[in-house]
Amino acid sequence: MTRLVDRVTVITGAASGLGEATARRFAREGAKLVLGDIREDAGRALAQALGASFLLCDVTREGDVQALVEHAATHHGRLDCMINNAGQLGALGRIQDIDAAAWGDTMAILLNSVFFGMKHAARVMRPARSGVILSTSSVAGMVALGPHAYTAAKHAVLGLTRSVAAELAEDGIRVNAVAPGNVPTRMTEMAYGDADAMRKASQARNPLRRVVTADEIAGAFAYLASDDAINITGQVIAPDAGLMDCRMDASYYAKPPSFFDAYGNRG
Ligand SMILES: NC(=O)c1ccc[n+]([C@@H]2O[C@H](COP(=O)([O-])OP(=O)(O)OC[C@H]3O[C@@H](n4cnc5c(N)ncnc54)[C@H](O)[C@@H]3O)[C@@H](O)[C@H]2O)c1
Repeated sequence: MTRLVDRVTVITGAASGLGEATARRFAREGAKLVLGDIREDAGRALAQALGASFLLCDVTREGDVQALVEHAATHHGRLDCMINNAGQLGALGRIQDIDAAAWGDTMAILLNSVFFGMKHAARVMRPARSGVILSTSSVAGMVALGPHAYTAAKHAVLGLTRSVAAELAEDGIRVNAVAPGNVPTRMTEMAYGDADAMRKASQARNPLRRVVTADEIAGAFAYLASDDAINITGQVIAPDAGLMDCRMDASYYAKPPSFFDAYGNRG
C-alpha cells in the first residue's frame, strides 16, 4: 500500500505501542514523519530507522506540541496529517479517593494534548485548505470501560473531534478519531500486570476472539489519513473486534423460534 506517499505527518506518543506501529505503517505507505515523545532514546532510534525526524515533546506543554507542527511546516513546507496519540492511564481508584492534582494531570495528558494538537494543526492546515487531524480515543470514550478520569477524557476527545470537524469542514480539513479496544502495548500490559494475562483477557472479551495488534490499529489510522476516507469526518472508528457493537452471545441466535414469545421473552 502506498496511499500516503509524501504525506507530511506528525505523531505524538510515537516511541512505543500504537504510535510506534502507526509510524512504521505510515513510513511503509510513503509518509514523511515528524515524531514526538517524552521517551527520547526510543523515539530517536525509531526516527532513525524510519528516516523520520524526532523532537522531544511533552504533550502537556502547548509549546512542545506547537514545535512539532512548526517543524513539519518549516522542514517539509506543510502538514498533511496530525495524529494526537500520546497517552497514559492516568489517575486510578474510586471517585471519592481521586486526588485533584492527579485528575488535572490526566486531563492534561489525554485531553489538553489533543486540544493543542488540533489548535496548531488547524493554524497550518487552514491556509492550505486541506489536512487530516486524527486522535486516539478509546472504547472507554464510548462507555464505562476504564478508570474515571481516563473514561472522561476519552469521551471528551470524541466530543472535541466532532465539534472541531464541524468547524474545519468548510476548509476541507477532516477530523476523526480511532477508538481501540484492548491492544497489547506497554500501557495495557502494565495495567494488567503482565503481557500474557493482558492478551488472554482481551481475546476472551471480544466477539471475534482476536488479540488485536498495534499494527491493525495503525491500519485504521492509515485509512483515515488516506483519500479512501475522503468523505469521513467527525467520526470515530473502533477497530475492537466487535467489543462495542456485538454484545449478544452467538448462542442466542441458535435458539429455536418457539423458545421466545412475540415479545422476545423466554417461553
Ligand atoms: N493499548 C490499548 O489497548 C489502547 C486502547 C485504547 C486507547 N489507547 C490509547 O492509545 C494511545 C497510545 O497508548 P499505547 O497503548 O500505545 O501505550 P504506550 O505506553 O505503548 O504508548 C504511549 C506513548 O505515549 C508517550 N507519552 C506518554 N505521556 C506523554 C507525554 N506527556 N508527552 C509525550 N508523550 C507521552 C509514552 O512515552 C509512549 O511512548 C493512548 O492515548 C492510549 O490511551 C490504547
